[in-house]
Amino acid sequence: MKRAIPRHIGIIMDGNGRWAEMRGLPRSEGHKRGVERAKEIMEAAGSLGVEVLSLYAFSIENWRRPEDEIGVIMGLLENTLKHQLETFMLEKIRFRVLGDRSRLPEHIRSLIEITEQATAHNSRLTAQFALSYGGRDEIIRAVRRAIRERIEPERITEALFSSMLDTEGQPDPDLIVRTSGELRLSNFLPWQSAYAEFYFTGTLWPDFTRQEFLDAIHDYRMRERRFGTVKPGVQ
Ligand code: IPE
Ligand code: IPE
Ligand code: MG
Repeated sequence: MKRAIPRHIGIIMDGNGRWAEMRGLPRSEGHKRGVERAKEIMEAAGSLGVEVLSLYAFSIENWRRPEDEIGVIMGLLENTLKHQLETFMLEKIRFRVLGDRSRLPEHIRSLIEITEQATAHNSRLTAQFALSYGGRDEIIRAVRRAIRERIEPERITEALFSSMLDTEGQPDPDLIVRTSGELRLSNFLPWQSAYAEFYFTGTLWPDFTRQEFLDAIHDYRMRERRFGTVKPGVQ
């Protein structure tokens, strides 16, 4: 029996640099192509009835990259935010950002806020970009908040703690996809993906098609999720 479509899918969009290098192109070309894929996958997720799509676009560790490359990525981000609002409204996509946005340039932060506010009531799909995001950093920020709010230690439950994370109020990811053949999480949603299913593919992100997205979902739907229990009917 096939299980339902995942409610929340996380994607670690990796391999832009290698895609470009293999073609003798600058890494920026890979990032440009990567943006096109992200748009296509958002559209596909919306039409499939996925509730939340989390796209890992820039990790907190990515601040260690050369300044030029960071500049290219920030430029693409700015451009995308400026041009996507119409599509978000048409497709009823709610845009959000996960991560420590205080480290992002001021003009990008304000574009993010404008887009988040303008799309806040869109209800078809929540598309959230992990930007300047690190899972451990997110947990530390939540711990600091709990201490600042003087929450009694006994009141801290998994549910309360989850509500202090950037993904507050959302279902945990059912499926995490990573492209480019790397078999690691790279600090992406470590708390939330405690019981996620994983799908790894060697395809580089700029080559990741809607069809492969459907394949990943199909693979997920054939899996058995037990959450520590046994199959119903087993003695
Ligand atoms: C993913 O592609 C995009 C970001 C991390 C911003 P990479 O830039 O990591 O591409 P590779 O892994 O070097 O091929
Ligand atoms: C993870 O990819 C971050 C994003 C996809 C945005 P990286 O390419 O930065 O990860 P590592 O360095 O290979 O772990
Ligand atoms: Mg990479």
